[in-house]
Amino acid sequence: MTVTTDVLIVGSGPAGAGAALLLATLGIPNIMITKYRWTANTPRAHITNQRAMEVFRDAGIEDQVLADATGHHLMGDTVFCTSIAGEEIGRILTWGTHPARHGDYRLASPCLPVDIPQNRLEPILVRNATERGTQTRFSTEYLGHRQDPDGVDVDVRDRLTGREYTIRAKYLIGADGARSQVAEDLGLPMEGRMDIAGSMNITFRADLTPYVGNRPSVLYWVIQPGSNVGGIGAGLVRMVRPWNEWLIVWGYDIDGPAPVVDETAATAIVRGLLGLPDIDVEITGTSLWGNNERYATRLHSGRVFCAGDAVHRHPPSNGLGSNTSIQDSYNLAWKLAAVLRGQAGPSLLDTYTTERAPVAEQIVRRANRSSREFVQFFEVLGLLDARDEAEMVARIEERKANTPAGAAKRAALVAAMELKHYEFNAHGVELGQFYESAAIAGDGTSRPVPARDPELYFEASTVPGSRLPHVWVGDARTRVSTLDLAPMTRFTLFTGIAGEAWAAAAEKVSAELGVPVETVVIGPGRAVTDLYYDWARAREVEEDGVILVRPDKHIGWRSARLPADPVAALRDALATILGRS
Ligand code: FDA
Repeated sequence: MTVTTDVLIVGSGPAGAGAALLLATLGIPNIMITKYRWTANTPRAHITNQRAMEVFRDAGIEDQVLADATGHHLMGDTVFCTSIAGEEIGRILTWGTHPARHGDYRLASPCLPVDIPQNRLEPILVRNATERGTQTRFSTEYLGHRQDPDGVDVDVRDRLTGREYTIRAKYLIGADGARSQVAEDLGLPMEGRMDIAGSMNITFRADLTPYVGNRPSVLYWVIQPGSNVGGIGAGLVRMVRPWNEWLIVWGYDIDGPAPVVDETAATAIVRGLLGLPDIDVEITGTSLWGNNERYATRLHSGRVFCAGDAVHRHPPSNGLGSNTSIQDSYNLAWKLAAVLRGQAGPSLLDTYTTERAPVAEQIVRRANRSSREFVQFFEVLGLLDARDEAEMVARIEERKANTPAGAAKRAALVAAMELKHYEFNAHGVELGQFYESAAIAGDGTSRPVPARDPELYFEASTVPGSRLPHVWVGDARTRVSTLDLAPMTRFTLFTGIAGEAWAAAAEKVSAELGVPVETVVIGPGRAVTDLYYDWARAREVEEDGVILVRPDKHIGWRSARLPADPVAALRDALATILGRS
């Protein structure tokens, strides 16, 4: 007997479990299969950015994520040192914790970045997805698929019994990670290379409170002999839980033989990076992984879509992998739901590639550039051609000298540190995704020219394609974000009191097209008040104008004023977005 479903998802990582959660929340029947008996068995991803937190907020799981996360206030005093107990070379306030950047982050979103290890996040996603209707099948392996005009037959193997069977789905999502078999079978075109550098992860327990409690961060970068070989640019001691659970990332030459990391070797590496030769450490795991620089230029073919690392593979620098994977699924889930319900034409699904492939390329390039930019530190400190450890130490010491060379080194260190903002405070990269596609009905305006560096700074806008700006609105008792007023279950119109006629237009068009559309009127005496007058400043349309927000909170269309025939204007816009014109 063939098992059938609307959407089959391969993989229970951030992309797969994210897709399952969102589809289940939208009421779309789905099955999620995953190869292993449980979710990620190592901490892996952890930096969870504002956009991912907004997705969790929309899915109603923000509280659960926060309850298991390390808060923003403990994330940011990022240290560069020769070892945890050794010389400190400098610090950088990261992830928007610098007072000068904190305002940018607070203004942009109702959520702040948090740190939640992947092995704690995935169970939250899987549990909620399953509670809401996802059929989750562990120890079940994807083997291959065939698609026809009406659906996809997917062959899978139950790894407990060895039994092979077929699942018939209307759509298939390959969220099977950086070695994606689905992407391979689909022949997705890829750019770039795999395995450009080698990294090893070592997880361990040790109480480091005396060494880090005064400079709380999730990342401590260690510049030591050999730390620029392979890997992510430098040695890393990463907090998993403050301050007694840790993960070390150390590079190795991927062109040489794979290193053997037994307990003795792991303990030696850990103690070396800590600079504490006698400290008690409990090694809890080791693994090797490759750094990649590869992205797909097409993310789907027919009824099969790939998301997450399957289509963008890069080092953890900038903390973009899991975040972008979740955001891919956020883009895809509402589109699949709309097509499956007959609310949209199948061409809406093509916009998944149009909108997300540029993001895939952007983040792969950014993350790789950030890891390469560590070389600046080695250059500045004069370590690239140091012959031995003693020479390295002497050259690091030179920055203390009251000499022209010492002064030059100090100035160069300032510049090297400045560059790291592009890795650790790249707010524009984290939040500034802008879509140009057939699912955006333009209003003749184009994306505003950024006033500040677009990688470092996010600038809100309501030009169609932008993410809906966040401002706090509400009433005397309740404060909500504009993002909260545009849930993923519907299209939402934002207007002012002079634009109240849009509400009747929305009702009519919603009934005609069979698509849920709600209107939010913001103004005094209405259910939602512009508490701080921030919405009036942010909306960029007149009070009688309108902003049409898609279920993924990107602006699909806007009208500067109330036209003579708002029904026709709205109908045209929605029909364009939904591929029905
Ligand atoms: P992921 O690889 O997580 O999941 C793939 C899933 O597919 C798994 O469930 C697997 O079992 C399943 N699967 C594979 N083959 C299958 C088959 N044939 N059949 C069935 N199931 C199959 N990112 C970030 O955003 N912030 C961060 O701070 C970091 N930090 C970080 C640190 C370190 C050390 C690493 C190694 C990585 C990060 N990342 C990160 C990156 C992040 O871990 C990565 O981008 C995401 O896990 C990608 O999620 P996916 O769901 O796409 O794939």
